[in-house]
Amino acid sequence: MSPSPRQLASLRRNLLAWYRANRRDLPWRRGRDPYRIWLAEIMLQQTRIAAVLPYYERFLERFPNVRELARARESEVLKYWAGLGYYSRARNLHRAAKIIVQDHCAQFPRELKQALALPGIGPYTAAAILSIAFDVPLAALDGNVARVLARLFAVRGDLRAPTTWRKLAAAAQTLLPSRTSGDWNQAMMELGETICTPRSPNCAACPIARHCKARALGIAEKLPAARQKRAPANVHIAAAVLVDTRGNTLLTKIPGAHDSVLFSRLWQFPAVAIASNGNSKRDPAQGSVHHSANSAADKLAEHLRASLGIPEQALTPLPVAAHTVTFRRITLAPFLARVSRLPKRPCCRTLPLAKLARLPISSATKKIARVAINALAQ
Ligand code: ADE
Repeated sequence: MSPSPRQLASLRRNLLAWYRANRRDLPWRRGRDPYRIWLAEIMLQQTRIAAVLPYYERFLERFPNVRELARARESEVLKYWAGLGYYSRARNLHRAAKIIVQDHCAQFPRELKQALALPGIGPYTAAAILSIAFDVPLAALDGNVARVLARLFAVRGDLRAPTTWRKLAAAAQTLLPSRTSGDWNQAMMELGETICTPRSPNCAACPIARHCKARALGIAEKLPAARQKRAPANVHIAAAVLVDTRGNTLLTKIPGAHDSVLFSRLWQFPAVAIASNGNSKRDPAQGSVHHSANSAADKLAEHLRASLGIPEQALTPLPVAAHTVTFRRITLAPFLARVSRLPKRPCCRTLPLAKLARLPISSATKKIARVAINALAQ
């Protein structure tokens, strides 16, 4: 993985020229405000650019700088993150904002060590922010960049294997020009996202194709080797949508509750896990579960009684919905219960079913609400 000085100079020139002529106009590229760059990098973790864009603009309108973010309540921050997933990112961003205001005079730290000490910032994110905002010469290595490097140098095997990843990190750092590291890192990301894509790389349009070893060997499409995927866990959740005569419903948030992880520790409908793994296979044709609605209802009724003191209730099954969170394949089985009055409990909130977006809720909770609203409209 060591090109000659001449090859290196030509490769850098070609990629940077291509990036400057072709780079997408993305909102965090319009200036060099570290706050805006930091926010983009956090939102882009495990999330596609197209999904991030509307959240990014809305978040910045509400929290235009680090002081506004630090001053906000966590629930308000989560509300603006709701739907984007991986909510620990929002919680860490908020905690980091407070640290930046308190310990760094509201300036994002330029030192790698200090950046890495902030919650939610690992080596990739730190390198991306510091290079893009301040041109600190640090190579940012993520999955996209690793794929580009694996093809460029024909690296075989699992790229995430520690020794391979270390070699890729060293290669990334060797390629990095000492100045313009921000443009360079974004050029590598851009190449990985638009040309050197996982399937069917567009080698004909690649500015560094003539430097690419995998292309020379005719194996660009075969690299990188497929990763060993963790087997998905099937989880079956029964959730109760309690609705009173005025159309209000009840959401709970029970810290530490087992199922709360599946709802990202945000406000959720009272729910209980019915079965997991091999016990509940999703039927791909039906989108349903080989599981009796009666036993799910019984378990849910028992949960409502034991955890919320809600007496025995008629639970009407609603259409099930599928939901996937990383390695979990979740089947959501909502049940509707019409009640005359909703109970008052410290860990609960009541609000109109149609207005749940007032609270931070996960996509799974939104899905359940939609199913219930549809059923009530019929
Ligand atoms: N992916 C992660 N960070 C990015 C950035 N700054 N530009 C484009 N894609 C990215």
